[in-house]
Amino acid sequence: MRILVTAGPTREDLDPVRYLSNRSSGRMGYALAAALQRLGHQVVLVSGPVELEPPAGVERVPVWSARDMLAACRERWPDMDGLAAVAAVADYRPAKRARGKLKRAEGEGRSLELVPNPDIVRTLARRKGDRRVLGFALESSRGRAHARRKLVDKHLDWIALNGPEAQGASEATLLLLGADGSERDLGPARKELLARRLAALTFPETNA
Ligand code: CTP
Repeated sequence: MRILVTAGPTREDLDPVRYLSNRSSGRMGYALAAALQRLGHQVVLVSGPVELEPPAGVERVPVWSARDMLAACRERWPDMDGLAAVAAVADYRPAKRARGKLKRAEGEGRSLELVPNPDIVRTLARRKGDRRVLGFALESSRGRAHARRKLVDKHLDWIALNGPEAQGASEATLLLLGADGSERDLGPARKELLARRLAALTFPETNA
């Protein structure tokens, strides 16, 4: 199968030198891309800025912002058989990107207007047909209920639930919820091992 994987953070520019972002290292998405590739799938990895090398045999498409990520994914999606959305996409971006570096006004505060970014996985999964889509959910509390809601709202087949402590860490816990009501506990373990378990459950080798 041809599988699109999104990974890493996005960066939302305020001006030419400043941006809003998050702590995502991209490690889970990259590990999943590697695990899928090892199962025999053709993997395209659309990645925000991270300090990782692309896994061998995986095509990487580097992007910066959520809108760049959506554009790159949209272009590839028609040729793909499945999607794994692991990216920690910024939900908002500054309403305006200043052309020049913003200047400090001595002694004055500054407020920032934010506008919503597109929901990448939801946009793509809306037109998935019979293709399968795996999403992630980062939840700090009442995780299961929120994750189940996201599963339906974003048209997912599975959602992998983890806590905010997973961002930037080498280990994580992972609970895989299926649209069929199933529930599998995959951790705690190193992200590479979690990714192998996740790949085998969602896009198994037999479909390669
Ligand atoms: N996602 C996406 N585009 C966005 C936001 C999220 O594709 N603009 C995807 C993520 O890659 C992940 C899933 O949606 O697969 C859930 O991300 P999460 O941050 O947990 O959910 P949000 O929809 O952002 O909800 P909230 O931050 O309110 O919990």
